[in-house]
Amino acid sequence: MEEVKETKKRMLSGIQPSGDLHLGNYLGAIKNWADRVNDYECYYFMADMHTITVRQEPAELRRRSLNQLAQYIACGLDPEQNVLFLQSHVPAHAQLSWVLNCYTMFGELSRMTQFKDKSEKHHDNINAGLFTYPVLMAADILLYQPDYVPVGEDQKQHVELTRDIAQRFNSIYGDVFKVPEPFISKQGARIYGLTTPGDKMSKSIPEGCVFIMDDPDTIARKFKKAVTDSDTENCVRYDRENKPGVANLMNIYSTITGKSYEEIEAEFAGMGYGKFKPAVGEAVIEQLRPIREEAERLMKDKAYLDDIYKQGAERAAYVANKTLRKVYKKVGFYQL
Ligand code: TRP
Repeated sequence: MEEVKETKKRMLSGIQPSGDLHLGNYLGAIKNWADRVNDYECYYFMADMHTITVRQEPAELRRRSLNQLAQYIACGLDPEQNVLFLQSHVPAHAQLSWVLNCYTMFGELSRMTQFKDKSEKHHDNINAGLFTYPVLMAADILLYQPDYVPVGEDQKQHVELTRDIAQRFNSIYGDVFKVPEPFISKQGARIYGLTTPGDKMSKSIPEGCVFIMDDPDTIARKFKKAVTDSDTENCVRYDRENKPGVANLMNIYSTITGKSYEEIEAEFAGMGYGKFKPAVGEAVIEQLRPIREEAERLMKDKAYLDDIYKQGAERAAYVANKTLRKVYKKVGFYQL
């Protein structure tokens, strides 16, 4: 039989090593990433260079860059099937970024909403890196010629700018860059804070945020304190508008167990929140237990993680350098 070799579409995304992963990250996104390798060639990197646009504690950043890799692998991201690397390990990102700076307009960068937000938040440190952040991101992306860039809503504007920069460059020099599409996943649950069910789960409200490294007692406690609703109905019923706390818990439970809302309503009929909240907590504890244990094991194995980063950087640099060489040639840098 003839062998059919299909070339998969390529996907690339960056993640800031800015803190421990939580249940919202896991159920909303990472859980689904493991399966992507069936359809795509996937590159993921920790964007440590982007992280220093706001002031960081160096030892912390170093620690998080390693721990976050361990946590992603524990969540099911296979380091053989995916290319996992650290941005600062591949010099081509900084190199292409400089070139692209010269093909990006001051006005374009001034219009970026993230820049405006961050300058307001960090008005004592509005550095040039904060301003040219989207150019580094464009370099991150364009180096790998990906078809898709999975990003959240807040990063879409940066991907749009990346497309503009790529098109501008291509219109001058020919087809150098693939013009990528943002990839907004339809899969994945939107998880809200346990104490603030109107807002997305966030590490900035730790009491309502379940971290994947939380021990079972901590998780149980957080679910016990979860906000339900202010009416006196005390009944497990899905009503996102009037009972956002209960709806959020039902969504978490449904995502983990695969049960529908009707099935959950039937399961807890006549029982009230006093039974329901601990049951959701228990489901989360069991879902996260193997992940936490694996992450703990990996976090102790620095040699293994170093090796993953080393291999990842090699695989990434191979692709990135190919694009960079082409760009250097096109813009007229003299080649030896
Ligand atoms: N800016 C992105 C964020 O804060 C992270 C990021 C950096 C990124 N480089 C990227 C995402 C390239 C996608 C592609 O979430």
